Formats: sequence, C-alpha cells, structure tokens
Amino acid sequence: MMNNKLQLFNVFFLIVATIVATKLILKTLLIKSSKRLPPVVKGRIPLIGGVARFVANPVEMLKEEYESLGSVFTINAVYKNITFLLEPDVSAYFFKAGESELSQKEVYGFTVPIFGPGIVYDAEYSVRKEQFHFFEESFRIDKLRGFVDYMSQEVQDYFSKWGDNGEVDLKQEMENLIILIASRCFLGQEVRESLSEDIAALINEINVAMGPLTTMFPHLPTPPHWRRDKARKKLDDIFSNVISSRRLSPKSEDDMLQSLINSKYKDGRATTVTEVTGMLITALYGGQRSGSATATWTGAYLVHYKAIWFDAVEEQRRLMKKHGDAITYDAISDMHHLYRCIKEALRLHPPLAMLLRKSHKDFSVTTRKGDKYDIPKGHIIAASPVLSNRVPHIYTNPDSYDPERFCPGREEDRLAGPFSFVSFGGGKHTCLGETFAYLEIKTIWSYLIRNFEIELITPFPETEYNEIVWSPKGKVMVRYKRRKLVIE
Ligand code: HEM
Repeated sequence: MMNNKLQLFNVFFLIVATIVATKLILKTLLIKSSKRLPPVVKGRIPLIGGVARFVANPVEMLKEEYESLGSVFTINAVYKNITFLLEPDVSAYFFKAGESELSQKEVYGFTVPIFGPGIVYDAEYSVRKEQFHFFEESFRIDKLRGFVDYMSQEVQDYFSKWGDNGEVDLKQEMENLIILIASRCFLGQEVRESLSEDIAALINEINVAMGPLTTMFPHLPTPPHWRRDKARKKLDDIFSNVISSRRLSPKSEDDMLQSLINSKYKDGRATTVTEVTGMLITALYGGQRSGSATATWTGAYLVHYKAIWFDAVEEQRRLMKKHGDAITYDAISDMHHLYRCIKEALRLHPPLAMLLRKSHKDFSVTTRKGDKYDIPKGHIIAASPVLSNRVPHIYTNPDSYDPERFCPGREEDRLAGPFSFVSFGGGKHTCLGETFAYLEIKTIWSYLIRNFEIELITPFPETEYNEIVWSPKGKVMVRYKRRKLVIE
C-alpha cells in the first residue's frame, strides 16, 4: 500500500516536473523568437565562422557582408560574438552609449602593459574621464598655437638634412619626424634635445610587439612581449627622472609634461609620477603610428595625383602672399585644400579601422531600411571607420580619392549626420588629439610643398592589415628635388 502511494507520488511529481519544464522551455523559445537577432556571418571553417576571412582581408570581408547582410551583422569568433554596426543610423548607439551600456575597459585591455596600471583603460571610469580632461587641458587653443611654432621648427630642421635631391622612404621619414614633433610638444625642449632618439627607439620597440595576437593575449610570454615590457620599463625610468627634475625646476614650461604635472583631480589630489608617465606614453603611442600613417597616405595621394598636388602648390603660393614665408597657426588655419587632402586620406585609410566596446545591456537598433535588431548583452560591439567611411549612399564613388567631396556645397560627410566620418571616432570618445594631428600633418606637408618637387617611385602602397594601427604596407619610396616656391 505504502509502495503504491510512493509510486503514485513519483508519477504525479514527474508529470508536474514535465509540465513546468515544458512551460519554461516554451517561454524561453517564445522570448527568443520575439527577439530579432542580427544575421550571422557564415564561414567555411566551423567554430571560427567569418573570422578567418576577416583576418585575411578585413575590408573585403566587411564589404561583402555589408552588401549581403546589411549594416548590422554578427561574427561568431570561437567564444565571442562580435556585432558590427556600420551605418550612422545604427552606429550612433555605439558612439553615444555610456560606459554602463558599452564599455572600453575589457576590449582595450591590451593597452595596459603599455599605458601602465591605473592609467586610462585600466582606471575606474570616473578617474579615466579626469585623465582625459588633463589631455584636453594640454591641447587648449593657446597651447596649440605655441605647438605650431615648435612643429614648424622641427619640420624645418628635419628637412634641412635632406640633400638637394635624393630618394627616401616616406613612411620611415614620417615616423621619425612625428616622434620628434611629439617629443618637443609633449616632453619639452630638454628631453627633445637629449633623449628623443632613445624614446623613439623604445616607442618603436613597443609598436613592433603589437600584432593581432597581442589584442587577445597581451601578456602571452613571447619574445616581442618581453621586449615591449623591457622598453616600457626603460621609458618609465627616463620619464620618472625627467618628471622629478621638472618638479624641482623653478621654471614652468608650456609642454604637455608641465600641464600633466600641474593637473589635479577633482578631490584635490595631484597626479603621481606613475600617472604622468603613463599619460605621456599614452599620448606618444596614441599619436605616433596614427599620425605617421596619415602623413604618409596624405603624401602618397598628393604626389600621385598631379592635379591635386598642383592645387596644393597654388594654395601655398596664395598663403605665402597673405601670411609671409613662416608656417604659423594663422597660415595653417587657412589651408583648406590641404585640410581636405588629409581628411580624404583619413577617410580611405583610418589608422584605427576597428573600434570596439563590450555590451553590458541588451539593446536594439533600427537600420536606415527599417529593420530592427535586438543585440544581447555580452556581445562585443564593433564600429568600423574603414567601412563606415565608404558607405555608398553617403559618399559618391566611395573608393576614389576626391578631397573636393568635403568642399562647401558638397560636404558629403555631413549629409547623414555626425557619424558619417569616423576616422577620429565620435560622440563620447572622440579623439582628443584630432586638432593636434591636423596641425602637425599640415605643417609637414605645407613645408614639403613649398620646398620640394616629389614623385612616387614605388607602386601606390597597399594597406598593412596585420597591425593594430593600419598603415601603408612596406616602403613608400619617393624621389625629391629641392626647389623654392616662387611668388609672383
Ligand atoms: C591621425 C591621428 C589620429 C587618429 C586617426 C586618431 C584616432 C582616434 C580614434 C578613432 C579614437 C576613438 C577610439 C574609440 O572610440 O574607441 C581616438 C581616441 C583617442 N585619441 Fe586619437 N587619433 C589620432 C591622434 C591622436 C593624438 C596625437 C593623440 C594625442 C594625445 C590622441 C589621443 C586620443 C585619446 C586620449 C583618445 C581617447 C578619447 C576617449 O576615449 O575619450 N589621438 N583616436
């Protein structure tokens, strides 16, 4: 009797459990089906989906998927889902979202061995915001005006070492020069004179270590990572000494170093030596590769398209008549054609081609065509300047180099709102060095246009995708001949 009762109870329990489980499964399925997830990129190799194609040629792959799947899609990458938001209608969410919705800390963790612990992406968000504010202070307009004089001096000194004619690797020249300019503006005259070669070599050592593997495993014990850590330690020692002696000096300089030393957090705390060191390395590293790649692309296009070079020469002639020979802040502010040439090089070749965030909340986006997608918490979210800058409904002949597309009357980058041109990011995390970068590249190219004839002697460069900062692949050889621009 007792046994029968037990059996009956077991059967009853099983039925109830089955009903509850079925209900739960149905509920989950219903919830799932009411959500519209983005389409997923198919790959030939299981598990890694589209990743293999992405690594081989990211631009081609993104273009193909954008054409077939639209402006929102997901790539399954072993244990991560990466969802791309590619047109301004959907990428607006990416650029405007706060840290509690889309964060940078997890995806930019690979910068921690370079920038240092407690700096930028390793700092609490509230601290990071204050550190970025310190950068903004050192790029105030009055400071930038002064920086142009230093840039101009550096550029003049550098090219005075070129002969009357010769052949050089433009890419290498731009890398050398950009670090000298940064050393002068960020670290001051003393460091520029005595240590800039050491600093350039150490920053280069760090750059060399930064391959795609580093983004996933920044601490993997590999020889390039050991060299990076050694170089970082040496920079630490150099900067600590410089900061200590600057603190003792009665003189106040007008460089970024001084500005960061003088900075105070909202609670009154002064910046520490470790923080100033980390922020200086952030600025040097952040601006060096992106700046030199952009200066090289700009030059390659200028010398490749004779008509564009001719217009650039005419602009310099006009400005020399108006402002005199010196390359000043006011003259630079008038270089509209050159500005558009740089901007167009940046549109086609954004050095930071992939911007990433980690999503902490489910969110939805609606495309230009009216499709709504629900993106689950946990996805890595990507914006891609390299694709967004070439969207065909925004840019006419998007793959061609046409600086005039930014002219008044056309202004193609403004037609679809603020996120149509995103080489410097946008919204909450817009680049803080944008104005500085334009100033230095304009200074370099206005000087070269005024003083040299230049021709490209290697084929037009392709893009090196296998680096975190995309730059021209291989050497970019040019032949130069010194000549002075004549003003009638
Ligand atoms: C051509 C040169 C440069 C390019 C193309 C460039 C590009 C970018 C991009 C795309 C971002 C946004 C990253 C994101 O949203 O995840 C960014 C952020 C940033 N850039 Fe630049 N950058 C350049 C030069 C510089 C320079 C010279 C500095 C000097 C300090 C600098 C400092 C920064 C900082 C501090 C941020 C972070 C801003 C934030 O998260 O609030 N950049 N840059």
